[in-house]
Amino acid sequence: MKPEIIPSGAALGAEVRGVNLAEPLVDDTREAIIDAYHQHQAIFFRGQTLTDQQLVNFSAIFGKVIADHRPRDYYPELDTDMPDLVDVVSNVSIDGKPIGALGSGEAIWHSDTVPLPNGALILHALEIPTASASDTRIANTQAAYAAMPKEMRSRLEGRALIHGRQDYSLVKQDGASEIDPSQSPGPWFPLVRTHIATGKKGLFLGRRGDCYIVDMAIDESNALLEDIWKHVTQPAFVWSHAWSVGDVLVWDNRCTVHSRGAISEGRRRLHRTTTAGEWPR
Ligand code: SIN
Repeated sequence: MKPEIIPSGAALGAEVRGVNLAEPLVDDTREAIIDAYHQHQAIFFRGQTLTDQQLVNFSAIFGKVIADHRPRDYYPELDTDMPDLVDVVSNVSIDGKPIGALGSGEAIWHSDTVPLPNGALILHALEIPTASASDTRIANTQAAYAAMPKEMRSRLEGRALIHGRQDYSLVKQDGASEIDPSQSPGPWFPLVRTHIATGKKGLFLGRRGDCYIVDMAIDESNALLEDIWKHVTQPAFVWSHAWSVGDVLVWDNRCTVHSRGAISEGRRRLHRTTTAGEWPR
């Protein structure tokens, strides 16, 4: 039976029904999932119970599953039996030691970039707080680029962005505005990239606050990036995923940016995998 695809009605996002991700997927099902992923940029499945190995097996339909860039000592009590391929996003600590990354703080808007851009990001919800909205917000940079005012588009055409340093935290910090992004040793990527599978143009933006548009005066770069981020994260281009335990959410890091609000109370635990992307062009 073909999976049912139910678009969110927003600028991106669709639910995929009728698939048990714990089982190997037949070709038709796999193709329908990949088509939905390319068409909607983010897709989710409800009610999935997966071991880490099954999560990795499913993730491999989107590309080569790779280790994430977060340092292993970030979460010494790491809550997974496959630490090389499965990352943990959690606000839970045991004896004061975090079992996963990001904690309870607000995760600022970003795409995953360093050292090389990721392809797909895949999260499986194991524990979700009932008392706190812990939605993941995703913005579609292809839709935002298509709708961008001509004047803004002409200012960024052909431009490259230096992406932020690896030691900058995603979690909002006081004093972040003191960073001088033009000094970043991070890699350069084109601001406008063409999606390798769909040919659609979108923006590749790295992390809010620690990127720099090459060969622009720093004030001009900051002001233009401010305008771009304001444009991209307007409600018209954003969809929020409201989590339930058992959800698997997949989004395409090449053509989206994502963020998450602070978790006010309750345990939140998700297992996360990612796939290798390619050099943006
Ligand atoms: C992430 O940035 O991968 C985490 C998103 C989330 O915690 O919802």
